[in-house]
Amino acid sequence: PEAITVQELANRMAERGADLVKALFKMGSPVTLTQTIDQDTAELLVTEFGHTIKRVSESDIDIDSSSDVDADDTLQPRPPVVTIMGHVDHGKTSLLDAIRGADVVAGEAGGITQHIGAYQVTLPDNSKVTFLDTPGHEAFTEMRARGANVTDIVVLVVAADDGLKPQTVEAINHTKAAGVPMIVAINKIDKPEAKAQRVREELLQHEVIVEDLGGDVQDVEVSAKAKTNLDKLLEALHLQAEILELKANPDRAAEGTVIEAKLDKGRGPLATVLIQRGTLRVGDVFVAGASSGKVRAMIDDKGRQVKEAGPSFPVEVLGLSAVPAAGDPFTVVENEGRAREVAAYRQGVIDRKRTTSAPVSLENMFASHA
Ligand code: GTP
Ligand code: MG
Repeated sequence: PEAITVQELANRMAERGADLVKALFKMGSPVTLTQTIDQDTAELLVTEFGHTIKRVSESDIDIDSSSDVDADDTLQPRPPVVTIMGHVDHGKTSLLDAIRGADVVAGEAGGITQHIGAYQVTLPDNSKVTFLDTPGHEAFTEMRARGANVTDIVVLVVAADDGLKPQTVEAINHTKAAGVPMIVAINKIDKPEAKAQRVREELLQHEVIVEDLGGDVQDVEVSAKAKTNLDKLLEALHLQAEILELKANPDRAAEGTVIEAKLDKGRGPLATVLIQRGTLRVGDVFVAGASSGKVRAMIDDKGRQVKEAGPSFPVEVLGLSAVPAAGDPFTVVENEGRAREVAAYRQGVIDRKRTTSAPVSLENMFASHA
């Protein structure tokens, strides 16, 4: 991954390949256009030609196009991405089940969510909302952080009989760090020991000020079990989403984020991808972190095969070369050669990080000098 052919380097520098060969010859390295040179030689050559070095190919290989802004007239409304967060057992999955008319909780091991579930729900008014369910168990801090970073709105679920707990506070902090607006769902109000007002006061201590107490955070008392006030919660979401005026360009190469990924015994590497702009289609060539591939099939949250996925749509993607990491950017590129090049480069970066972060012990220092 560290090597580059002379011709390729010439293309990136917008110089003639022959001139590079000549310069290399003078430097004492007689090579041809199609031969590869190492990074140090490449850097030397780049400086020799008066170009500034951006770690040779890093600037070129970097396909993070967050700086390439879609023109206003290409933007179309997109569904909000809403992440449900809160302490373990406060009823996040139950609330989402109630909204979706599904029963995920029943199928979970020990009733504990261990991954991020991604669902798109169509509301009675035909508008759509994408929900990400996160685990509340303390072991899943990173997943909660990830959820907050891809989301437009956070719904903080607090059980009215239990009040604020460590992972509630953690979720508040992630949400604030991500600069995302929050709606509080005070859940389990069907319980006789529910104390909704106490929850509002506890929130105040963490600078989450609900409307009733003079702030601008919407709160709704709900019961996932009795299905109380679910419409009010959806209304609050709708209102918040309208304020945000969420838009994306659906007519471009797709870009998104890997929400979670795993190796499936039968189907190979799988990734759940949240599309953020553009439209992903079967057959598209992509890079996901240090893995690449071609979309073989896409499956929606209801287990149906879909041919395309637009902005805010969560899909499971089949056709990856390896399992990417959750949080990795997912980007459609022009062809497989390019996809492999970028993936290989990133693999190099990852390997390099691994090497440099390897602990140095006395033993291996002696070993390397033996
Ligand atoms: P993790 O994903 O493990 O963090 O839990 P969770 O927040 O998703 O909680 P979950 O939905 O699994 O619910 C935990 C327990 O609370 C289950 O036994 C639910 O039946 C119960 N529960 C959820 N919502 C309500 C509610 O509104 N009222 C009552 N009485 N019980 C509820
Ligand atoms: Mg759950």
